[in-house]
Amino acid sequence: MDPSRVAPSGPLKKRPRQVRASMASPPYDIKFRDLVLFILEKKMGTTRRTFLMELARRKGFRVENELSDSVTHIVAENNSGSEVLEWLQVQNVRASSQLELLDVSWLIESMGAGNPVEITGKHQLVSVKTDYSATPNPGFQKTPPLPVKKISQYACQRRTTLNNCNNIFTDAFEVLAENFEFKENEVFSLAFMRAASVLKSLPFTIVSMKDTEGIPCLGDQVKCVIEEIIEDGESSEVKAVLNDERYQSFKLFTSVFGVGLKTSERWFRMGFRSLSKIRSDKTLKFTKMQKAGFLYYEDLVSCVTRAEAEAVGVLVKEAVWAFMPDAFVTMTGGFRRGKKIGHDVDFLITNPESTEDEEQLLPKVINLWERKGLLLYYDLVESTFEKLKCPSRQVDALDHFQKCFLIFKLHHQKVDSGKSTQQEGKTWKAIRVDLVMCPYENYAFALLGWTGSRQFERDIRRYATHERKMMLDNHALYDKTKRIFLKAGSEEEIFAHLGLDYIEPWERNA
Ligand code: CTP
Ligand code: MN
Ligand code: MN
Repeated sequence: MDPSRVAPSGPLKKRPRQVRASMASPPYDIKFRDLVLFILEKKMGTTRRTFLMELARRKGFRVENELSDSVTHIVAENNSGSEVLEWLQVQNVRASSQLELLDVSWLIESMGAGNPVEITGKHQLVSVKTDYSATPNPGFQKTPPLPVKKISQYACQRRTTLNNCNNIFTDAFEVLAENFEFKENEVFSLAFMRAASVLKSLPFTIVSMKDTEGIPCLGDQVKCVIEEIIEDGESSEVKAVLNDERYQSFKLFTSVFGVGLKTSERWFRMGFRSLSKIRSDKTLKFTKMQKAGFLYYEDLVSCVTRAEAEAVGVLVKEAVWAFMPDAFVTMTGGFRRGKKIGHDVDFLITNPESTEDEEQLLPKVINLWERKGLLLYYDLVESTFEKLKCPSRQVDALDHFQKCFLIFKLHHQKVDSGKSTQQEGKTWKAIRVDLVMCPYENYAFALLGWTGSRQFERDIRRYATHERKMMLDNHALYDKTKRIFLKAGSEEEIFAHLGLDYIEPWERNA
């Protein structure tokens, strides 16, 4: 027992009144000793601050009256990260990189929960104005590490979860980006994709043009669209695109597996506007891929669910392990990023015990499935992997691994009642599957490359090139200054080589 808390006896029993009155606050027990809070008065006001401090202390939080070195969490209300930073600079306080700058919502949620809740993006105050590390400030003994990060132009320096609170803008940008892609205007397409990507990473919803200040990748054209959506709730440009015959036709045609821009263009010029007309046209020639695309169209346009992806995963592993018991089989692509649905299921396979007949694995798996009648289509692409001098210069370039693009016949799990909700008699669904086989030494690079998202991949490569003078692709990382390949056994090591904080797969939904 703490002796100071035993009621004093004898002559000390009657304490003078003023001693009690001068006590800062009743001695509440501190329950969370790792946290030291400071509540900012600026824009909150004294009354509310005093109230929150008292309440937080009552709930077991340590709250300081003054800002000091021991403070770990600064809580503010109605202040942006930049404003808090400015205030800190004026106070001449050395801010450590560990210091959390939080919105009052974090404190309120924590008090409600009875313990500090996990800090997420929506709690963290974001600075979008100035990079303070570049501003010399004679008041500081040392330039302090930045407690608030400036939003990077590179997706590999942002954490982008599936929690997108700017859907209304990013959906619009994606339509415009796609339309430019259909017109083969890469520059504009990329501009809108980058804008969509950066807004997906924001922890707040844009409600006014002021919110866009300092956010990178937002050019004038992009800002016009944002402004219109803020004012009218929709963009006239997007509306026009959605009603455009060419856009509609391209969207429809490219939804067929095996149909790209060139074919869409041809069909559109020939006057086709619907798939049924194309399908029944006797003069058109289709590739094997397009034939499969039409044959299984309905299944392929309906998205793959996670349950279906897992079911395919079990079958892939079973088949691979039948021939190569030690192989690693990893689900990559969107499902590794935590997506609930996808257009296909991607798998990366590697053999930690390198053997001579590695390239025989995929053919064997294909052969097994074909014999079992589980393959509706496949295209086995042989490896073009040679000892390359350095990784490909081209961003988005295809890799050289052996791979198989296929359509799998996934039989539905048997339901006890025997009843089927599927279309009459059909007991299976066609699922697009990508299998990639890579040498073990390339595994980390292939995993990073095949996890995506595409925008994340583009940006991490661009970052490597422009910020590090390195070249990254699905096979390797090359340091152009040192003229050496940097080896990596894990994705974490690749990020470390690039001097980047590690971004988890579910934070790569850029
Ligand atoms: N990828 C690649 N080379 C290819 C095809 C794909 O490196 N020839 C990479 C891309 O970077 C992409 C990832 O593999 O991010 C997965 O591709 P894909 O299946 O097309 O996209 P997902 O992100 O999985 O999205 P979806 O749910 O639509 O399948
Ligand atoms: Mn995929
Ligand atoms: Mn894929």
